[in-house]
Amino acid sequence: MNESDFMIINPSVGIKGKVVVPGDKSVSHRVAMLSGLASGESVIEGFLTAEDCLNTLKAVESMGAIVSRNGDFVRVKGTGGKFKSPGGMLDMGNSGTGMRLMAGLLAGQDFVSEMTGDESLRSRPMNRIKDPLEKMGARVELLGTRGCAPVRIYGGKLRAIEYKSPVASAQVKSCVLLAGLFAEGITTVIEPKATRDHTEKVLQGVGIKVECNGLFVSIQGAGQAGHRFDGRKWVVPGDFSSAAFWLVAAAISEGSCVTVENVGLNPRRTALLDVLRRMGAEVLINPDTSSIDDWEPIGTITVKGRGLKGTEIGGDEIPNLIDELPVAAVAGAMAEGKTVIRDAAELRVKESDRIATMAKALISLGVKVEERPDGMIVYGKSIVKGGAIIDSRGDHRIAMASAMLSLFADAPVRINNIACIKTSYPTFWEHLKQLAGANG
Ligand code: S3P
Repeated sequence: MNESDFMIINPSVGIKGKVVVPGDKSVSHRVAMLSGLASGESVIEGFLTAEDCLNTLKAVESMGAIVSRNGDFVRVKGTGGKFKSPGGMLDMGNSGTGMRLMAGLLAGQDFVSEMTGDESLRSRPMNRIKDPLEKMGARVELLGTRGCAPVRIYGGKLRAIEYKSPVASAQVKSCVLLAGLFAEGITTVIEPKATRDHTEKVLQGVGIKVECNGLFVSIQGAGQAGHRFDGRKWVVPGDFSSAAFWLVAAAISEGSCVTVENVGLNPRRTALLDVLRRMGAEVLINPDTSSIDDWEPIGTITVKGRGLKGTEIGGDEIPNLIDELPVAAVAGAMAEGKTVIRDAAELRVKESDRIATMAKALISLGVKVEERPDGMIVYGKSIVKGGAIIDSRGDHRIAMASAMLSLFADAPVRINNIACIKTSYPTFWEHLKQLAGANG
């Protein structure tokens, strides 16, 4: 670990103020990929200029798209339907979304490609995409240990399938739908639970027919030549998952109040707001009615802290707050009574094993936690003991959730391994300083 790869968090008296969080990570990946394939120019406003999405942009650039960027304003001249061989391994860094979605597109190309990533990404399961892509006719080799990356994909002619996904994963659904662009006929994914629908929205946004019917999502393929669609202007909403840290911190302490402006309000992403309401926070949502109907809804969220009580989080709401569960556990630690998180075994295969890593972070600050195979029970209102050291294990969301927890400790806390925050929220420390006073 680098000397500067840690941060000392000072306890704070509260979270106050207004913030605009950077662009949505999921949306940025998808618009970069589709812009890369479009005919002509796309412009992207509010692109997330964090490592994960920049890697996706680099990947499309290495496959023939022409990219220019000025801050979060990006221009992409697409390849017109198919990619060119990148001539080398694509490095998707830390991003499961980047690798799994790109795998779908690569399966439909007329070349062999390889993708790799950092240590965390090379430990995450890739059989979940190999299986459907091979059913569609691609050959996928997992060159790492135990079904992990590097991934080699022999792209080519694909057939449409009906795929019943064993996991509720937007990444798996999206991988199959994107491969389905290059298949003959209609490809359908059946999900066990509804997951985020950004891929569907982005595809519809370029005029490709995607039908959503309950847990069934279908796409009309164009065959090996791929769809032809024009570039367009995209406006990326602020990332709800980044906003979540401030919303939870504000909800915890009475008298705190935070407003996040221009943030995505897609209902498949915002289940944390229901949880915070159940726990007793005041949550005000002000949708921006000028936002385009069939695109991502945006608006302003204000959360006022009134003291929290424990709750149960599970079932169908899990995919709609999957990335917010570490910080939801922080809310649980500061609530009256116990908070139960269940049906969330997927957390074990994220950037780290988020059940184990978050439980360890909470325990090291004195919070009582029982780890379960599919979640945890957090006993609230334990005193959060400062003076401890937390290791994020290189997981950005654990690092940021731990920073929120540390705000409520009785002495400063050191968090190790914080460089990972750059993968999703490069301005996190600035915003912490802005909202929580002496920190950052
Ligand atoms: C994402 C989907 C989720 C989420 C990830 C981003 C996406 O993963 O955890 O951070 O952009 O599709 P799964 O769909 O695999 O649960």
